[in-house]
Amino acid sequence: MKTTVNEAKNMLEKMPRIPLGFFPTPLHRLDRMSEELGVNLWIKRDDFTGSNLFGGNKTRKLEFLIGKAAEEGAEAVITYGATQSNHAMQTAWAAARSGLKPILYLAAVVPPDPDDFKANLLLDGVFGAEIHIVDLEEGESFADAERRSFKMGKAHIARLAEEGVVCYDIPMGGANEYGSLGYLNGMVELAEQMQQQGIRFDCMYHSTGSGGTMAGLMAGRNLLGLDMTIHSVTAMEVDEKYAGRAAGLANKSLELIGADVIVEEKDFLIDQDHYSPGYECPSEEATEAIKLLARREGVLVDPVYSGKAFAGLIADVRNGKVPAGSEVLFLHTGGATVFFAEKEIIGGVAR
Ligand SMILES: Cc1ncc(COP(=O)(O)O)c(C=O)c1O
Repeated sequence: MKTTVNEAKNMLEKMPRIPLGFFPTPLHRLDRMSEELGVNLWIKRDDFTGSNLFGGNKTRKLEFLIGKAAEEGAEAVITYGATQSNHAMQTAWAAARSGLKPILYLAAVVPPDPDDFKANLLLDGVFGAEIHIVDLEEGESFADAERRSFKMGKAHIARLAEEGVVCYDIPMGGANEYGSLGYLNGMVELAEQMQQQGIRFDCMYHSTGSGGTMAGLMAGRNLLGLDMTIHSVTAMEVDEKYAGRAAGLANKSLELIGADVIVEEKDFLIDQDHYSPGYECPSEEATEAIKLLARREGVLVDPVYSGKAFAGLIADVRNGKVPAGSEVLFLHTGGATVFFAEKEIIGGVAR
């Protein structure tokens, strides 16, 4: 039997959580884009999660992650990502405003100018983060540099433990079962808005990276028994175990709240057709999608994540995968800070 919105809220109530954002985020129709695409297109503004101009999807996860860190008596948190990671920046502010010390290990996919930190990396410093830049070694991939940074982080946590300091380890993208509770909760919030506004969606599109957001969304969808398909458009190449890992994560989150439904690998629709030429590498298609949305609606999606996901949505409408007249939701996960990052990441959006 499906769980109601109120029952789901009660289940989540018992989880460790520190309020950080402004919820519910707005849900509104995109009139001019709907006309352009021939579908009924709505947007959920998780770029407005707060608590400053530069929110995004990580705020939801961090409410539970910082809640868990506080429950464990942590004085510091550590996390990982690229030097322009939105997740790392949002972790830095969430930690700062919760009285915890933020420590970041950041892989330099696009090497920053040490005398001119920009965008997220600049904000990391403003929030008082201890920043460790992990330069890519000759021939090393981003994924390998990330793995090396995780080891450096573990060693750092062990050193702090010897000094009696508890440091909570937040995985890259906040992708653990506590982080995914954030999007389980986000799906409950969306379901309530749909009830209140008398709308339903055939499908949702969103950007995926670590997989934590899609795990939480699917956990929430299955818990509430919603019949909306969720298209997860990747920001990078992912391996064949990606959906399986997300299902594992979703099930751990569901277990934490005592739910009796599960998520299966086959529930996920992973779209790998729009990340090319690579992570933090701008694409023509995303550039066009960013300009179209900005010029029709004044909404900003970014070149690394949300712009590529929006390009995926446009492509599926235009190639008929999403039939004309469908009720379509775009989950805006944020990321516009990157417009002020290195030009290699931004591409030709201004032209
Ligand atoms: C703007 C934006 N959208 C989407 C994602 C992907 O979220 P997840 O890592 O939960 O898959 C990220 C991750 O950092 C992000 O910064």
